[in-house]
Amino acid sequence: MRNKAQAQTKMTKRVYLLQFGDFKQLSKAEAYAFVNAEALKVVYEGFNYLIFESSRTVDPYFGSILRVAEYYSSIEGLTDLLSEDLSYTEKSIPWSVYVLDDNIAVAEKLRHKIESLIKQSNKKSIYVSSTSVFSEKGGVTLTKAIRKRLATDGYEFILARWGTELAVWRTIKYLDLRGFKERDLSRPYKNPLISMPPWLARVMINLASPSPGRKLLDPFCGTGTILIEAVDSGLDAYGVDLDPSNVNGARENLNWFQAKKGKTADSHVVLADSRRLTEHFPECYFDVAVTEPPFGPPLKETVSLSEAQAIADDLRDLYSSVFYSLSKVLKNSGIVVFTLPSWRLKTGGLYELRVEEILEKSGLKLNKYIGNTALPIRWSKSDNIIQRLINVASKSSP
Ligand SMILES: C[S@@+](CC[C@H](N)C(=O)[O-])C[C@H]1O[C@@H](n2cnc3c(N)ncnc32)[C@H](O)[C@@H]1O
Repeated sequence: MRNKAQAQTKMTKRVYLLQFGDFKQLSKAEAYAFVNAEALKVVYEGFNYLIFESSRTVDPYFGSILRVAEYYSSIEGLTDLLSEDLSYTEKSIPWSVYVLDDNIAVAEKLRHKIESLIKQSNKKSIYVSSTSVFSEKGGVTLTKAIRKRLATDGYEFILARWGTELAVWRTIKYLDLRGFKERDLSRPYKNPLISMPPWLARVMINLASPSPGRKLLDPFCGTGTILIEAVDSGLDAYGVDLDPSNVNGARENLNWFQAKKGKTADSHVVLADSRRLTEHFPECYFDVAVTEPPFGPPLKETVSLSEAQAIADDLRDLYSSVFYSLSKVLKNSGIVVFTLPSWRLKTGGLYELRVEEILEKSGLKLNKYIGNTALPIRWSKSDNIIQRLINVASKSSP
């Protein structure tokens, strides 16, 4: 039996589960940014998932959350509910059971129960192994059609604890890895030396939680990865870059994306030096800024401390000037989400820029947490020599 509080919640609210991806801190921050922005109530945090309730249907588009699932039933309530649901479903039913807590034995029983319920309802059972939805490396291994059916007219049940109760959830959405990959690889202008993964751009935008129609600026827009994700989120996207080939390339990419998607949001890419943003935009114009500045020379090997210091010295003034100028064109309480580099040293350890020093005179103040996740969040692949630190800052009122 569900406990009383949960039963009451279930009557009036929808309850959702968000499964974190491999980069747990990033996913957690993305999940909390979403629930905070929508004023939703977190009701439980598991080892690798978050449960919240909502009085309305939600349909978020995440960059790092693997699954969005909705509360389906208690373990005991599954038979009744599923038997009824099956009477309305198609002849063949793709289904799966995925375990988020270590309840393998219960999952096994559940599998048998579901299989026999599907058979009793005279439908064809198509069992799909849930581990094949995302491969080890996070790639999608199932065909798009099966995945779509699993989360629409099929059933992927998730077994996950909600407080002391073991509950059954139903997946309603998967991370759109294909969409991100397509936007990365099919856009006309590519520059792998500078561009960031689209999913990371989406996470960074989500950390700023701008509502649709708001104005976003990327002062180091490069190929326009962040701008594309911003347009896809319904934002008015503005980019600045001082390299003419990147400016033309970002424009080309945005035109490609907007034509493909039929998106109507505004986008503008300006050839300019972001140390002087006020020459191009009015003061207090943007709601948010999301950006990745240049990280200095690409590196094949770890560096010595003095080499790292020399690269950092070259970048520090640029960063300080751009954040100072960015703060002027940002609305009061506007949010900036930005990455900064840290370098792996030959001697082991990392060399980092002091971000407080960079922001010192800018009027921007670092945020310390999103939900219970401490900032900055480190993100890098294991073999990256230059690692990213994802920071969030707000413009404090003068
Ligand atoms: C790391 S890249 C950004 C890549 C981008 N996020 C993407 O995914 O393509 C940094 C960009 O900043 C630009 N840049 C460097 N200094 C600048 C400045 N002072 N003003 C504007 N853009 C600048 C570079 O030309 C480069 O395109």
